[in-house]
Amino acid sequence: MSAVSRRAGLVTGAGSGIGRATALEIARSGAAVAVLDIDAGAAAETTEMIRKDGGEALAVTVDIADEGSVRAAVERAVTAYGGLDFAVNNAGMASHRQQLDQMTLDQFERVVRVNLAGTFLCMKYELP
Ligand SMILES: NC(=O)c1ccc[n+]([C@@H]2O[C@H](COP(=O)([O-])OP(=O)(O)OC[C@H]3O[C@@H](n4cnc5c(N)ncnc54)[C@H](O)[C@@H]3O)[C@@H](O)[C@H]2O)c1
Repeated sequence: MSAVSRRAGLVTGAGSGIGRATALEIARSGAAVAVLDIDAGAAAETTEMIRKDGGEALAVTVDIADEGSVRAAVERAVTAYGGLDFAVNNAGMASHRQQLDQMTLDQFERVVRVNLAGTFLCMKYELP
């Protein structure tokens, strides 16, 4: 029987919440998961949880709002696993838990940059 290579991919924002739960579930299905998050400690924690569960994971720190950071993070996952079979673009942020009339323009622009441009940047480098 020929060896079937393990499927592999990445989950952004996998340091907590929905992203962490998704990464754990994907790893349980047998795929290797690159755990991407802006919070290095949180990414390491998720990776540790996956490994303890018998799965394969790699923690990668990334700011999805920064093009160079996204390029480097995707390259790291591709180098580790030889390509991406899937990508879950989950990372994002809420609006600083503030009322709109209390928000600064810089805060608003950060939300748009992360949630909109960040998702675009991830897909730009994941798709190839
Ligand atoms: N939970 C909800 O009710 C809800 C509702 C609507 C949308 N969402 C969206 O779903 C996604 C997951 O939600 P959640 O509740 O698990 O949120 P969460 O805050 O628990 O997790 C988001 C993760 O993304 C990471 N992150 C934030 N900015 C980042 C950046 N610039 N680069 C890389 N990583 C970054 C955070 O560190 C965190 O680990 C988010 O995009 C959120 O905006 C959630």
